[in-house]
Amino acid sequence: MADLLTPIELVFPGRVHFGPGTAATIGAFARERQFGKTFVVADAFNATRVGVLDLPGAVAIFAEVTREPDIPMLEAALGAARASGAEFVVGFGGGSAMDLAKIVAALLEDARGVTEIAGPEKVHPRKVALAMVATTAGTGSEAGMRALVTDPATQAKLAVQSRHIVADIAAVDADLMLSVPAHVTAETGVDALAHCAEGYTSKRAHPLADTFALAGIRLIGRHLPRAIADGGDREARAALALAAFWGGICLGPVNTHAGHAVAYPLGTRHHVSHGAANAVIFPHVLAFNAPAVPERTADILTALGLEPSQDPATVRERAYGWCRGIGIEMRMSARGIPEGDLDAMAKDAAGIRRLLDNNPRDIGEADILKIYRDAW
Ligand SMILES: NC(=O)c1ccc[n+]([C@@H]2O[C@H](COP(=O)([O-])OP(=O)(O)OC[C@H]3O[C@@H](n4cnc5c(N)ncnc54)[C@H](O)[C@@H]3O)[C@@H](O)[C@H]2O)c1
Ligand SMILES: [Fe+2]
Repeated sequence: MADLLTPIELVFPGRVHFGPGTAATIGAFARERQFGKTFVVADAFNATRVGVLDLPGAVAIFAEVTREPDIPMLEAALGAARASGAEFVVGFGGGSAMDLAKIVAALLEDARGVTEIAGPEKVHPRKVALAMVATTAGTGSEAGMRALVTDPATQAKLAVQSRHIVADIAAVDADLMLSVPAHVTAETGVDALAHCAEGYTSKRAHPLADTFALAGIRLIGRHLPRAIADGGDREARAALALAAFWGGICLGPVNTHAGHAVAYPLGTRHHVSHGAANAVIFPHVLAFNAPAVPERTADILTALGLEPSQDPATVRERAYGWCRGIGIEMRMSARGIPEGDLDAMAKDAAGIRRLLDNNPRDIGEADILKIYRDAW
């Protein structure tokens, strides 16, 4: 774990607007910069309310983003963005739309394919401006420097990481999240929780991010059950939006670890949503890591409002009970994942070294298979 004497770089969006009505700041930004052509990347739901962005001039909308976007979807969006002559790209939606918008902006005037810009700092400086408007409280993509897209050929997620895909402006208006269904609220909320908890227990954990991580976990512990019980609870929605933003900040310089790596094959191989996959895996990896980071594990339980423990079995039981208590189906078997695929999934996850290497305890294919068996 890093200490106060370890250098670290934190990249923030150029401007952050937080609060009710701030979606319209995107239009004000476009006017200020005199952009006449904007390209909005959205899912079908958010595409119906692009008006809240108050954009001037010609607005082209790519409305076809679906969960876990893949390379063909990216190429379709990129083609439409080039045809529109966009000067300004806006990601309007959950992580799927925001991530796609980031890669569209990165490649708009670059002939390379996404596989060539995947990995750290391969993106050229952007020529078009980029805005993020989050409508789920989960990924923190609005704050961060990463974007993910699935490669159907390998079923792996490609991660583009660059300071050039951090937004020029981000708007976090939690009133846009009042319509998120309860199960999506739960799943995305646990994704934000996983970003904070993994950031806090990562080998790369750093005091600069620790403060955000713990504050994020506390907000989620208090407000996620409230927002699930009453989707119209504006204060709870705003608290979760803030926690997700802070999770995104932790992702930047610290990033996730085995929690996300072990969760990925549930999404790429079996189409379990990103948040649900993280939730199913969260208690198991928290428990697996407890011997390596006992105090930090206890801190996470305390921040969630649970009784602290450093004992792996107790940690697992408490975290599992919390996730189940907010209505998440925690058994992989009940999510249609065949037992016969667990070996192949463990092999896939064991290859995600970019994240596994951040884990505070060494973890290999056999450990991952054991986690899948416990979670099945
Ligand atoms: N960039 C990063 O650092 C990062 C971090 C974590 C996850 N991700 C990626 O983000 C994606 C997942 O994003 P997500 O969890 O936000 O899900 P999502 O963007 O796929 O949205 C989930 C569902 O909610 C709907 N929706 C979105 N906003 C809504 C609203 N306000 N009201 C009603 N419905 C709404 C969407 O149409 C979709 O059906 C994955 O591809 C994952 O890999 C990226
Ligand atoms: Fe995530």
